[in-house]
Amino acid sequence: MRGKIIGTGSFAPAKVLDNNDLANLVDTNDEWIRERTGVVRRHIIEDESVTSMGTAAAEQALKDSGMKAEEIDLIIASTISSNVILPCAACEIQKGIGAVNATCFDLNAACTGFVFAYNTAQAYIAAGIYKNVLVVGVEALSNLLNWEDRGTCILFGDGAGAAVLTAEEGTILPMVTHSDGSRGEALTCNSRHNKDWQEHLEDDSTYLQMHGQEVFKFAVRKVPEVIGEVLEQADISIEEIDLFVLHQANRRIVESVAKKLKQPIEKFPMNMHEYGNTSSASVGILLDELNREGKLKAGQKILLAGFGAGLSWGASLIEW
Ligand code: UT7
Repeated sequence: MRGKIIGTGSFAPAKVLDNNDLANLVDTNDEWIRERTGVVRRHIIEDESVTSMGTAAAEQALKDSGMKAEEIDLIIASTISSNVILPCAACEIQKGIGAVNATCFDLNAACTGFVFAYNTAQAYIAAGIYKNVLVVGVEALSNLLNWEDRGTCILFGDGAGAAVLTAEEGTILPMVTHSDGSRGEALTCNSRHNKDWQEHLEDDSTYLQMHGQEVFKFAVRKVPEVIGEVLEQADISIEEIDLFVLHQANRRIVESVAKKLKQPIEKFPMNMHEYGNTSSASVGILLDELNREGKLKAGQKILLAGFGAGLSWGASLIEW
């Protein structure tokens, strides 16, 4: 057995901060942010939370799938920025949508989170343990940002993306994942709940911190590599891939991957101009936009790829 995506959904908060708004907060400007990142605006929570955004995206994905909430066997929520530590965000989403028969857990793989959650769903379906799985990538990164650090606050945004998978006949399609904890220093955020929390409370380390160039170089090297590994396992040529749905961290990263893979940039849809980098939500949001715009056709081969903190990276082949 293998999982097939039968519904998608997404949510972005109504409040928008554009690059000019950020230029009022830190020493930056619209031109720099657009040119270096491709980001123009990002959506930021006000009354929303990881729970409410995840629930809204999940509701939409369920509706799109035509499935009832009670039919969902498993909910995996990928997040690093939940307002909820206990119970987990997946349980909160379960409560919100009424998926009373689901088993629920969260997964932390940062910007690779949606891909890791999708792969975990596939593994459970292939093993015959669960049939219908809801995957949600959801982040309120604005809670983790130091709004005085122009190296990070200009990049990220909040939102949620979701997909419903159901079991179908067929062998599981290739998925390749990697982690390298020895390079974790490149992207960190200390918990505000450490036992020495008082020392850390006003400390920069409790905000998201990133060695931008190091992460950039890692991404442009590892993403083409892991896509190559998936293609080799699938025994197909790169020309057979219709779309590459990559984590939306930076337009220059996506362009560099396209160039390294010698593929036209048109095969690499992007939406970071609207949302910024939404970490584990980005792949789900983009997939949902493409789906709603009717750009995904039955039988198309699509490569999902994520990369980020851990360090972690991975890619999965899907057939629409
Ligand atoms: O999702 C998880 C994975 N994360 C990523 O993939 C992020 C990967 N990294 C990046 O996207 C890029 O490294 C950044 C967008 C974060 C930074 O771009 P960069 O081209 O690597 O810039 P830089 O850090 O090398 O800085 C270049 C210059 C510096 O000035 P000098 O030293 O050349 O005078 C910075 O001080 O740009 C300056 N700078 C800024 N200027 C205006 C850095 N940030 C800003 C800013 N506005 N926000």
